[in-house]
Amino acid sequence: MELIFKKKILLGVTGGIAAYKSAELIRLLIKAGAEVRVVMTPAAREFVQPLTYQALSGHKVYTDVFDAEAESAMDHIELARWADLMIVAPASANFIAKLLDGYADNLLLTLCLASKQAVAIAPAMNQQMYLNQATQDNIHRLKSRGVKIWGPAQGEQACGDVGPGRMLEPEALLGLIEGRFSPGKLSGKKVLITAGPTHEAIDPVRYIGNRSTGRMGYALAREAFDAGAEVTLVSGPVSLDSPAGVDRISVTSALEMHDAVLSQVSGADLFIACAAVADYRVTVVAPQKIKKSAKNIQLELTPNPDILSAVTRLENKPFTLGFAAETEKLEQNAADKLKRKNLDMIAANQVGGGQTGFESDTNELLVLWPGGKQMLSLNHKNEIAKQLIDLLADHYNALE
Ligand code: CTP
Repeated sequence: MELIFKKKILLGVTGGIAAYKSAELIRLLIKAGAEVRVVMTPAAREFVQPLTYQALSGHKVYTDVFDAEAESAMDHIELARWADLMIVAPASANFIAKLLDGYADNLLLTLCLASKQAVAIAPAMNQQMYLNQATQDNIHRLKSRGVKIWGPAQGEQACGDVGPGRMLEPEALLGLIEGRFSPGKLSGKKVLITAGPTHEAIDPVRYIGNRSTGRMGYALAREAFDAGAEVTLVSGPVSLDSPAGVDRISVTSALEMHDAVLSQVSGADLFIACAAVADYRVTVVAPQKIKKSAKNIQLELTPNPDILSAVTRLENKPFTLGFAAETEKLEQNAADKLKRKNLDMIAANQVGGGQTGFESDTNELLVLWPGGKQMLSLNHKNEIAKQLIDLLADHYNALE
């Protein structure tokens, strides 16, 4: 209970029958010592009167972007800054879609846009609406941006349907809110991560690249942030949203990635090299587009610097996790790289087809460290990232 004592919680309520449960959530939060301010969307007011929440929170409920009285107490930007945590419960399908697209046509959406931190949402809707591909895609993308998705629960719904879509019970939400304030395993630590492929220019329109999507590295960045770390992500060209709270530096080539990493590494406690860095670059990049001809042409390639080895050669090297993408002899090659690159840990994955590695949503990793190993068996990359950050943090903290 101590965890949320005096913490400032901004509770957003959208239109849904579960809005009545938010009253109980406010009561529990207040009982635990939190300060609560409530923001309601116009649709929420069709279900519950603001007075109910006002009586429970002890403060005027915010409902309107252009409410002169409320604005004079605390304007909407101030309100977004005030909150230690923003949670939207219940979050309707409509709200979720608008949040994803950056709408600001009501006070709650405006606050979400104005907030630096990731919000948490507790979806509540009819099971068919929840299962609709549009809602599923929206939730998936919000998750990848770092929005916490709490629930929904399964069960009987107000409309008579049975399925997923019930808002989590207030006690469960309270537990999750408390969890956000418990110090993570990497609390106060600085983590530098590389992710994605690199593109090595051939001429102004062509490049040599690889099939890395960056998903694993981005998931690790999110999980490290969630574990309390300050995270810098040096990313090659990918089409992924930046995780909330994470500092992203975008680069294109291996040389750019090398320079960005070396400029950021001092002060980093941990370094995770997840990028699929091109081993070679084109020696002479053509200044103009290379024209087609009937003759064979040759590209001369120059080795790129090994970023990971450059980091582990540093005098004050951070605790380092490398990756090994292998098509054969997984354990043997990874154990070799662990030694050769002077790493603290290595995560080896099988690439080149199947359900692991590049372009796949799932992965399986064999993690090795001097004197030990652990298998993280086939799972969604987000779950694998969580397990890997956990393992990494345990090993790092054991040294401290
Ligand atoms: N790596 C790096 N800089 C490079 C190449 C690789 O930092 N120029 C890092 C990767 O991010 C990964 C690890 O080194 O953490 C191993 O990458 P991998 O491609 O599996 O190994 P290589 O060292 O390139 O060896 P090989 O291609 O011969 O297997």
